[in-house]
Amino acid sequence: MGNPGVTTSTEPRRIAVGITGASGVIYAVRTVAALLELGCHLEVVFSDYGKRLMLDELGADAKADRLPELLAARYGSVVSRGTMVIHSNRDLGATLASGSHRADSMVIVPCSMKTLAGVAHGLSRSLIERAADVMLKEQRRLVLVPRETPMSLPALKNLVACAEAGAMILPAMPAFYQQPKTIDDLAAFIAGKILNALGFDQQLFPAWKGE
Ligand SMILES: Cc1cc2nc3c(=O)[nH]c(=O)nc-3n(C[C@H](O)[C@H](O)[C@H](O)COP(=O)(O)O)c2cc1C
Repeated sequence: MGNPGVTTSTEPRRIAVGITGASGVIYAVRTVAALLELGCHLEVVFSDYGKRLMLDELGADAKADRLPELLAARYGSVVSRGTMVIHSNRDLGATLASGSHRADSMVIVPCSMKTLAGVAHGLSRSLIERAADVMLKEQRRLVLVPRETPMSLPALKNLVACAEAGAMILPAMPAFYQQPKTIDDLAAFIAGKILNALGFDQQLFPAWKGE
């Protein structure tokens, strides 16, 4: 597994973000905003149900093709420190589909059980699944943020298969020891964990001091 935090270049980190149709698009939105604030170049791909869940959970104005405006409205001008392109999930000829493209890491947040199954079995039916397969074959960091409850045995086996293939499984399970007050506090906890998994320091939630 390549170390996601080590780079010899001054180029911005290039990170792929897949957003699928599990509940919890707020985790994706918070993560994308934080990565942009860190100056990353993001390649974002929504599945069809990822787009639908964003409308369901964040409101009728939360259209995938207006993600930059949504982020600026929620998190302010800091998001303009980074850059972002949005690819079609149907475009299997997009940059992310090739191992020669230098996206160094990928996170799928939230990750549906369907996309999890596709990654576990190397199906590459969509750009999200193909890009994840590229991360595994190139031994780059792949972070999966599954959300489902309860979980079926096939889903549990698919999590194990992905972990055995080198992915990091980072379930959408916010903690409460930091005494969250808002939904955004819960989202920030998961986004902070994702940033750590991608090799960044983060200040989205305070570190546990062992007291
Ligand atoms: C309102 C709503 C909530 C859903 N929540 C979840 C969920 O939390 N986890 C999950 O695995 N699937 C969930 N689904 C089902 C997925 O959206 C569905 O399996 C879809 O085919 C996933 O496709 P995708 O992986 O291409 O986004 C939900 C669907 C709807 C409409």
